[in-house]
Amino acid sequence: MEHPAPAVTGEPQVVVVDDAAAAGRIVAATISDTVRRAPTCRLGLATGSTPLPAYRLLVAELRGTGAFARVQAFLLDEYVGLAATDPASYRATIRSELTDAIGVPPASVHAPDPGSGRHADLDAACADYERLLGDGVDLQLLGIGRNGHLGFNEPGTPFDTTTHVVTLSDTTRADNARFFPTPEAVPTHAVTQGLGTIRRARHLLLAATGAAKADAVAAALEGPLDVSCPASALRLHPRVTVVLDRAAAGALS
Ligand code: GLP
Repeated sequence: MEHPAPAVTGEPQVVVVDDAAAAGRIVAATISDTVRRAPTCRLGLATGSTPLPAYRLLVAELRGTGAFARVQAFLLDEYVGLAATDPASYRATIRSELTDAIGVPPASVHAPDPGSGRHADLDAACADYERLLGDGVDLQLLGIGRNGHLGFNEPGTPFDTTTHVVTLSDTTRADNARFFPTPEAVPTHAVTQGLGTIRRARHLLLAATGAAKADAVAAALEGPLDVSCPASALRLHPRVTVVLDRAAAGALS
């Protein structure tokens, strides 16, 4: 059976700045602006190195202000088998890098919880998180993997997937090994919001910095709209902002 090509609904707005610090300023400003307009908004946060300059700026500006006290935060993904208290877990990471310092109450920081209690059943962990996300977050911050992944949606992931369990690729495990004591300690599986889940957000904000991301960025924005590059799914969304430094924009035509 033939599948019609999915409709491209909007052109991402692409902003290219000099360096990672400048990209961080735009990301931080977009996040604060969203919360200023809607103090009880639902904010989708990402982990990884790319958002860190933005998170540091938010912490410097907002510590003690209470501006984020009524925000509900949602993580994109989490490793299977790490306790929430494990410093390498994304739940611990987002608390230590951002949410504790800017006053988002821990009970308002949501993430998949794969592997513990009722969520020893990974399908239940996925279904519960998908239900919690409901009709999507107001703003979803995204990084991009060198292979074009979003969250942990590896190449080959259908564009309409909901929260699901993934087997991490060797590239992704190697890229994330720096956060673990040994390469073997990197979990083999994770739970991630699906591409369909991510696309339910009202506004998607993708940040990419550094030359290592240039090919993935070019594939996402200018390559075929195809599951071989999960981030090309961004082009199906009506409101996408892409913030790049010059190096990450280096392979765009
Ligand atoms: C990880 C995360 C992604 C992140 C990506 C890029 O695999 N699951 O959500 O966007 O890697 O990370 P970094 O920003 O460190 O390059």
